[in-house]
Amino acid sequence: EHQSMPKEGGLDHSLKLLKEGYQFILNRRHTFQSNVFETKLLAEKAICLTGKEAAKVFYDNDKFTRVGAAPKRVQKTLFGEGGVQGLDGEEHHHRKQMFMSLMTKDSLQEVIELTQNEWSEATAKWELEADKIVLYDEAKKILTQVACKWTGVPVKEGELDQLAEELGEMFETAAALGPSHWKGRRARSKIEDWMEELVQKVRDEEVNPPKDKALYTFSFHRDLEGNLLPKEVAAVELINLLRPIVAISVYIGFTALAVHQYPEEVEKLKSNDDDHLQRFVQEVRRFYPFFPFTAARVRDDFTWEGYEFKEGTMTLLDLYGTNHHPEDWENPDRFDPDRFKTWDGSPFDFIPQGGGEFDIGHRCAGEWITIDIMKVSLSHLVNQMTYDMPEQDLAFSMTDIPSLPKSKIVMDHIKRV
Ligand code: HEM
Repeated sequence: EHQSMPKEGGLDHSLKLLKEGYQFILNRRHTFQSNVFETKLLAEKAICLTGKEAAKVFYDNDKFTRVGAAPKRVQKTLFGEGGVQGLDGEEHHHRKQMFMSLMTKDSLQEVIELTQNEWSEATAKWELEADKIVLYDEAKKILTQVACKWTGVPVKEGELDQLAEELGEMFETAAALGPSHWKGRRARSKIEDWMEELVQKVRDEEVNPPKDKALYTFSFHRDLEGNLLPKEVAAVELINLLRPIVAISVYIGFTALAVHQYPEEVEKLKSNDDDHLQRFVQEVRRFYPFFPFTAARVRDDFTWEGYEFKEGTMTLLDLYGTNHHPEDWENPDRFDPDRFKTWDGSPFDFIPQGGGEFDIGHRCAGEWITIDIMKVSLSHLVNQMTYDMPEQDLAFSMTDIPSLPKSKIVMDHIKRV
């Protein structure tokens, strides 16, 4: 039995999407009292989905494809062109393997140690030299160092701050219009040029990174036909490591906010017990807004819960809204790390970095790195340093994408512990 999908009238709602940000899908879920509805975005019909059951459908590879799903303007800033996000089937699986093979136990341990070292060095410097710091900006520099060292990408000391700034612009401007959008485009094209040159030098043996580093393995990765990737694509994929590692600074900003706002939860972290750090970090990733939704297209016609999905239809899955869905979460708008004591580990209800499977799906390749870096950072904030937070505007927007506390977290009187 077919039924007609709840539908938002009107010609196009792209501007509302930008204006309502994280709440665009959520607002319409309320209006339609439905986890599925139809609207119009970028001049085409789009289906929006939210909640655990809808996420299961969205991550069914027989039902959806990523080919042609990302709008051009997002490719020009956030993703790049020819990368893993837009691939499908065998080709996607093979390329994703290139990423997932980096995520060994030893390699994750290296990320943890690099992050600890960078935090320690930075804190020593703040203690000596800084009246006050803006944590978000400092976190971008720390993570740029971590990202470059971990991937084997050489950067000169004097170029680091600039690089941190430009990698930041790629995700800070992903949803922007006008001059900010162009800033993001310029940053991407400059970093792509630099990275393409680097890949070429690695291939010509002018630059010789260790063989287990991403700079080496991506430069010499072979596709299913046995060919090297075009250097433009190898560059896009290397940037697919650097950019999101630096983007973890957004989560570090929110982590510091949570530490400030939930002191009773922070008490539990003072023993440095891993379970408590893990739960706190998971709750930060669930609670605060970051990646609003992800997009795919219907592969072949199918019917779900009586609703028809027509081949080619653009479909958005609400990530933020699913993490806050009242059908799946008790008191979703309460910050409560202990909820993760009993969470069953479902790949579909807690999806700040996408859902489903890593290898054959599009779930974030960097989720484990993100969690590890956040745990090290949280532990450092709570147990390795003391600081004050002077009067500042800590409010964060539900409409700016990505969101961040307005002040970007100002700290002073920093001391090492
Ligand atoms: C994909 C979020 C960190 C690498 C994704 C997706 C989301 C996401 C929502 C898309 C899921 C989908 O479309 O189904 C985040 C957030 C991060 C983060 C919020 C925190 C800063 C990282 C890190 C890395 C990374 C640290 C690399 C080290 C990737 C890659 C993909 C991806 C390569 C594409 C996967 C594919 O298409 O198969 N991420 N991510 N991300 N992420 Fe992340």
